Amino acid sequence: MTVNSTSNTRWRRWAPAALAFAVIAGGGWYVTRSGGPVLPDGPSEAVVGGPFALTAHTGERVTDADFRGRGMLIYFGFTFCPDVCPISLQVMGAGLDQLTAPERARVQPLFISLDPERDTPEAMAHYVRSNGFPDTLIGLTGAPAAIDQVVKAYRVYYQKVETPESAADYLVDHSSIIFLMDDAGDFVRVFSHDTAPETLAQGVRDWLSEADA
Ligand code: NI
Repeated sequence: MTVNSTSNTRWRRWAPAALAFAVIAGGGWYVTRSGGPVLPDGPSEAVVGGPFALTAHTGERVTDADFRGRGMLIYFGFTFCPDVCPISLQVMGAGLDQLTAPERARVQPLFISLDPERDTPEAMAHYVRSNGFPDTLIGLTGAPAAIDQVVKAYRVYYQKVETPESAADYLVDHSSIIFLMDDAGDFVRVFSHDTAPETLAQGVRDWLSEADA
């Protein structure tokens, strides 16, 4: 879709608020806006994440339990997003490309829709094949109640914003956080859309070596 300057401006104005909200709602973990180190803070690790039951872009029903035994890299967004979602998914793709194939096989990248009204499994199937996104990316969507459940579990903020001036009718303002969850579905750390791909790759490697220790 067309990237119009209005939505870019809106996002840039909104981004600090989104991340600030993430800090508060996350109850102790935060993303530095520069993409620098992320500091998990004790018990908050236990309260970010949780079960989900959604529909994959293949039409298959999937739950968090299907990914046990592998880590998950999870990003929440929407396919009409003009800028920050594609950037984040490209960071995820470029980061995973820096891992070895065996390392990569231990992490499942997931994109969870915050716009299930437009993000049908068919729309997600098209979107996950976008240039630079992880090769193994799975798009997940579902009924609004199912989306709300996982959104609450991950403490993600999102809000529909009407945009009468744009062809998209509405956009979705949302926090921009890449979650790394471990092979038991527990919180490890987060990255952001301005994390360098090599930082993301190293973060995954650090988790893998801890897991193997
Ligand atoms: Ni987005």
